Amino acid sequence: MILVTGGAGYIGSHVNKLLNNSGYETIVFDNLSKGHKYAVKWGKLVNADLSDTEKVREIFQENDIDAVMHFAAFSSVAESVEEPEKYIQNNYENTLNLLQVMKEFRVNKFIFSSTAALYGIPKSIPITEENELNPINPYGESKLMVENLLKDESDFGPLKYVSLRYFNAAGADLDCEIGEDHNPETHLIPLVLDAAIGKRGSISIFGDDYATPDGTCIRDYIHVNDLADAHLKALQYLEEPFNDSNIFNLGNGSGFSVKDVIETCKKVTDVDFDVKIEERRPGDPDILIADSKKAGEILKWKPEITNLEDIIESAWKWHKKINL
Ligand code: UFG
Repeated sequence: MILVTGGAGYIGSHVNKLLNNSGYETIVFDNLSKGHKYAVKWGKLVNADLSDTEKVREIFQENDIDAVMHFAAFSSVAESVEEPEKYIQNNYENTLNLLQVMKEFRVNKFIFSSTAALYGIPKSIPITEENELNPINPYGESKLMVENLLKDESDFGPLKYVSLRYFNAAGADLDCEIGEDHNPETHLIPLVLDAAIGKRGSISIFGDDYATPDGTCIRDYIHVNDLADAHLKALQYLEEPFNDSNIFNLGNGSGFSVKDVIETCKKVTDVDFDVKIEERRPGDPDILIADSKKAGEILKWKPEITNLEDIIESAWKWHKKINL
């Protein structure tokens, strides 16, 4: 049995689906503060908060848990700047609770949702796992605190973990059963699709004077199904008794600018909409592109849906489903 915290959220729900389709049984532990009940179509849902240590203990008592995949976290950079304490509490302290209960029940396999935000403003591109870790916001800081704790637990205790540093998760389940559904939405692709569907009058580009060919920020958009596949491979990696704890970047290795994304959305949706140039958003690095060679070599992971049009196509299908 695999415990999937945050399995009602965007990335967690896609992993939960893949685990069930691959023969694993799952329990989703989610307080539904950001996630959606409808997204848990596989496995059992426990609606509870990780700060409730007794409840976490009860789940471990009642189920034979082999491994934990930990998605439950707040993930808005802007919100983390407004309320840093909330991020340290939810993302760090609740993870600490979870790890303590795991230790009590001798569950030693842990897969952690980490982030490119650990690298802050990178000094070199593409970004390997060896790049300097220098988060520039409390969200990234809270995730780095967990990674540091995991390293200590693994160096000095029985824990074996894999930390997966996601770049920009995008797209939706190809069967269109689940997808991205944040409220409020802050991510580029769903916001552009909101403009295409008429939910907003225009899309704003936050800065067109970056050091990139078209002046807009470049990001590495990785399809959520490819992320899910990396989790499955990370679990299989940890099931091999002689494999050590490890850390992997997950990106598709190609960068797309904000303007590329907008143009591709216009093409995929066949809708024209207004585009405005606005001030830069604080804390946005010019370019974030992953070097995911290590995940390729060790996990034998290879992203399959790497074409931006295909990624946006899947997001658009889902976007229409939940908005029309
Ligand atoms: N952007 C716009 N207009 C918008 C929204 C976004 O121009 O309305 C731009 C941003 O400025 C940025 C790019 O689109 O240049 C992508 O922005 P997102 O908010 O979609 O994603 P981020 O790259 O900011 O964030 C992602 C993850 C975070 C993670 C971060 C690491 O969503 O969880 O990468 O840098 F922390």
